Amino acid sequence: MVIYQNISLKPYNTFGIDVKASQFVTVKTVEEVQVLCTAFNLAERKKLVLGGGSNLLLTQDFDGMAVQIDLKGMDKIKEDDDFVWIKAMSGEAWHNLVMFSVNNAWYGLENLSLIPGCVGAAPMQNIGAYGAEIKDTFEELFAVEIESGKLVKFTNAECKFGYRESIFKNEVKDKYIIVSVTFKLQKQGKLNVQYGAIQETLHAKGIVSPSIKDVSDAVIAIRSAKLPDPKVLGNSGSFFKNPEINASDYELLKAKFPTIPGYPLPNNLVKVPAGWLIEYCGFKGRRIGNTGAHKDQALVLVNYGEATGNEIYAMAMLIQETVKNTFGITITPEVNII
Ligand code: EPU
Repeated sequence: MVIYQNISLKPYNTFGIDVKASQFVTVKTVEEVQVLCTAFNLAERKKLVLGGGSNLLLTQDFDGMAVQIDLKGMDKIKEDDDFVWIKAMSGEAWHNLVMFSVNNAWYGLENLSLIPGCVGAAPMQNIGAYGAEIKDTFEELFAVEIESGKLVKFTNAECKFGYRESIFKNEVKDKYIIVSVTFKLQKQGKLNVQYGAIQETLHAKGIVSPSIKDVSDAVIAIRSAKLPDPKVLGNSGSFFKNPEINASDYELLKAKFPTIPGYPLPNNLVKVPAGWLIEYCGFKGRRIGNTGAHKDQALVLVNYGEATGNEIYAMAMLIQETVKNTFGITITPEVNII
């Protein structure tokens, strides 16, 4: 394990922001993570754990230790007549795991195709898309407790998953480094094709009884058409979460803005697409300096090349304020701002 000094983090964040970390280390095994925690006393240091860097906005040089998680490998560890259990190390690219499951015709991850980032970051915010979230197939994970270096297991219930939420963003934030995640996938299953865009894509291809691969291909096509590829245009996916508001407030807004979409949730709440609110406020495709909201998906902020983290942050705050002034709704970032 080598600790480097003054390393640019540009290759390690999908926004492509060029800031430096005063120390940088890559860990490749669980044992290295444990040594870093104990012998290097990570708990006492300012630290930034980097997965794929796909949910991160860096606004300044990082005066601490950046830890790149590079643990690799994925295996079937158990199976019975109905299920397989797949354990993936945290540094594996998320999409590789999805392809591994799709190619083996195991059900459960196909709707989550092409999400950027790595396996270890997926549970942090319970990644989700097209009607699926990882909590639906998540069995357990192992994480190293930074303070003690001990390996600790978290079950699905213990992770306290919610919409883009988990215990790792809340009660135990910065206390653990996730090293592996196990998923329980079905050998015979039902595909989740309720999402309108998936149905339309399958229909356009004339597919009536889709396979797992057909659904995965449809999701890949939808994402590729709408979401910018971070390798071409820096971004971190949805910048904000979709807000959840009271049904009564939604009805009042609907009277004023008749086209406002809303998806009913339990507990008398309605989820409103932040992309619609941002588009309504005129930001879709609008560029200010080196940043702006993407032309095909207003929820995604992009770096046109040389944007600084602060420039993107200022844009995000302008959008947040305008949405608040227009609708009275506060949209909160889902991206980690450092
Ligand atoms: N919409 C607009 N204008 C826009 C974007 C969206 O009007 O520019 C409205 C439309 O009414 C559309 C609705 O928003 O029908 C939903 O849009 P979309 O299907 O693109 O989904 P989203 O709510 O904007 C969420 C996730 C995405 C995920 C998609 C598909 C969040 C914060 N984002 O976006 O996740 O891929 O659903 O399931 O929940 C991510 O988290 O990085 C991400 C890309």
